[in-house]
Amino acid sequence: MSISQSVRKALEASSWVRRMFELGLEMKKQFGDDQVFDLSLGNPVLEPPKEFHQELRRLAEAPIPGMHRYMPNAGIKETRMAVASRLARETGLSFTENEIIMASGAGGALNVIFKTILNPGEEVLVPAPFFWEYIAYAGNHGGSVRAIPTGKDFQLDLGVIEEEVTSATRAIIINSPNNPTGVVYSPEMLKSLGALLSKLSEKLNTLIYLISDEPYARIIFDGLEYPYVYPFYSPTIVATSFSKDLSLAGERIGYIAVHPDFNGKLELIEGLTYSTRVLGFVNAPAMMQRAVQASIDLNVDVGWYQTQRDRLCRSLEDMGYQFVHPQGAFYLFPKAPIADDVAFAQELISHRVLVTPGVGFGGPGHFRISYSVEERVLEGALHGLSLAARAHGLPG
Ligand SMILES: Cc1ncc(COP(=O)(O)O)c(C=O)c1O
Repeated sequence: MSISQSVRKALEASSWVRRMFELGLEMKKQFGDDQVFDLSLGNPVLEPPKEFHQELRRLAEAPIPGMHRYMPNAGIKETRMAVASRLARETGLSFTENEIIMASGAGGALNVIFKTILNPGEEVLVPAPFFWEYIAYAGNHGGSVRAIPTGKDFQLDLGVIEEEVTSATRAIIINSPNNPTGVVYSPEMLKSLGALLSKLSEKLNTLIYLISDEPYARIIFDGLEYPYVYPFYSPTIVATSFSKDLSLAGERIGYIAVHPDFNGKLELIEGLTYSTRVLGFVNAPAMMQRAVQASIDLNVDVGWYQTQRDRLCRSLEDMGYQFVHPQGAFYLFPKAPIADDVAFAQELISHRVLVTPGVGFGGPGHFRISYSVEERVLEGALHGLSLAARAHGLPG
């Protein structure tokens, strides 16, 4: 066997997102690009702000000596200062560059975090449905993920969390706005969660980290202000990136922020910096660090995503689909009209529409639509979604 048993097993179980991606490529070859309506990918479709490209040009035309060398493992000081000052302004907390570690995307950040905090056999609780890669990320570092149910409208169920936290629970990971549901947790919900985790840490005499995975924090609708988790619990570690808010998913740039009031922060930050080095990231991509520094207060056009959401939600509502109205990210997670979400996704394939079955997120009976697609693709997909709804007695 040329590869390890664990990687072989993982390949055999390959994620639904991946499988749909590969199927989409095959179908596009067979039917032509414009005849396949692929809503299965979470790839930001907008271009980055023009200021980002201006900064790249500026850096290329007047290179700073040494700018392509190895950087400090935690990242370039000026970039971390820019991130910290934005966080300080938005949260009122005393963030400095010392609490920021630049990372290779939120995915890289989560691997660094898990490597740093997990002992063998420890677990990370995650409210389902959730981003499936968490399982692999925790597994990479000897830990495991345990999914727990959410309550009405995919909101956190504090009763369940209270029951499920054990002395083996090292962390709970939340993701708001959520992939796949688009749900945003309110400040009241986060406050109650913080109070519960404080109570449980004391009762079990253990440190339970709250990991907040926030790559969609700035893709948020209806004038909502992003409810940060920091005010409510100090053992908080945030993993995030510029993948979605600046449409830089391929550039692998993000950061980790440690709560400035967490009393174990010095050791934690030292650990995170070490893990960045020995996981082979060494430092987050240097040129990207400088480029995002100049774009730190910019965002892609969130209004465009909101228009896509509105178009999709109105149409699906008329067709008779049931779903929770998303307040952020660029996903919708409707109930499938039949119990078997895989079978339903396969039916949609016959209409050349690709979605991801809910099982791929620990949310069976549902399916995920990504509306980060060109308007043409969304329009084409609506036709197929309507036919599939009608086939199951919905208005369509
Ligand atoms: C919930 C969630 N977390 C993390 C990531 C990874 O993001 P990044 O591209 O910043 O690594 C994604 C990507 O889709 C995501 O949806």
